[in-house]
Amino acid sequence: MRLFLIGFGTVGQSLAELLLQRAEDLRTRHNFVPALVGVYTRSQGLLYAPEGLDLAQLRACAANYALYDGPRLHDSQPNIDRALRDYAYDVLIEASTTDLRTGQPAADRIERALTSGKHVVTVNKGPIALYYPRLRDLAREKGVHLRYEGTVMAGTPSIALALEGLAAAHIRGLRGILNGTTNYMLTQMEQESLSYDQALAQAQALGYAEADPTADVDGWDAAGKASILSAALFGAPRAPQTMSVSGIGHLTLDDLAQARAQDKRYKLVVRLTPEAGQVRAEALPLSDPLASVMGALNAITLETDLLGEVTLIGSGAGGLSTATAILNDLLAIHRAT
Ligand code: HSE
Repeated sequence: MRLFLIGFGTVGQSLAELLLQRAEDLRTRHNFVPALVGVYTRSQGLLYAPEGLDLAQLRACAANYALYDGPRLHDSQPNIDRALRDYAYDVLIEASTTDLRTGQPAADRIERALTSGKHVVTVNKGPIALYYPRLRDLAREKGVHLRYEGTVMAGTPSIALALEGLAAAHIRGLRGILNGTTNYMLTQMEQESLSYDQALAQAQALGYAEADPTADVDGWDAAGKASILSAALFGAPRAPQTMSVSGIGHLTLDDLAQARAQDKRYKLVVRLTPEAGQVRAEALPLSDPLASVMGALNAITLETDLLGEVTLIGSGAGGLSTATAILNDLLAIHRAT
């Protein structure tokens, strides 16, 4: 399986690392032999080798593709649309910085790859949050896969749980903690008395935050995930901008301490039904399962007709976690093709 990766930041580099570390395991356990043939970033341009790039070397020259030594094509200002159309690869992996307002330029690139008959795995949220029905229909028309597990809860398989694991049930609604950065910040502020700025700086250093972390702290990242879930689980596309969204910027250490004195804990909670979505900080009673989800963990509680509530808790952000989602999606495509 030849992979073409757009974006080589925290997630892309973690994916290269994972493919390198797991090569033997993937081959013996899954009969899966992926080759990363292309990497494109806005700053470095395109590095392409039809036989597969050397992952160890690639990792070492992430900041300067010109240092990559070996058979390859390096174009510092390529026409990426033409490359996606004309170059030989099987799966486009979209891991570039997300834009939740426009979904671009990732949405056009995903569309280009699908139109060219390539499978797509995206961890870029904007295109799925804003254009899921159109992209899904295009993938179906072309007979290729469009997978996006890592867009919600990173490597913790919330989409697969809802769409595959619970396929027989109807999901009536959900609530969850879907942003790792803010959950980590609230935990550090409450338990370590870190200031808001210190907690945010730590979340950034750990690779949890978006390139522009206002998307995290103001609730828009969680709203984007709610949009993805609304489209994928309820067939109800709903742009983040149409939801009621607020963040954690108003919360002080005093607020968190006062909540604790009342046996409550602040969390940035997403609530979603087929009709409406909401993101806001709520002081949850400690008896609520979501109240004990700490650090960069995320959680989702699905309200189903057949099983009652089903709750999933797991890693919700970070390079390795998100790269794990990509690898799981690649394996799903491998099994199905
Ligand atoms: N910035 C996101 C978060 C990354 O903190 O949850 C995962 O989507």
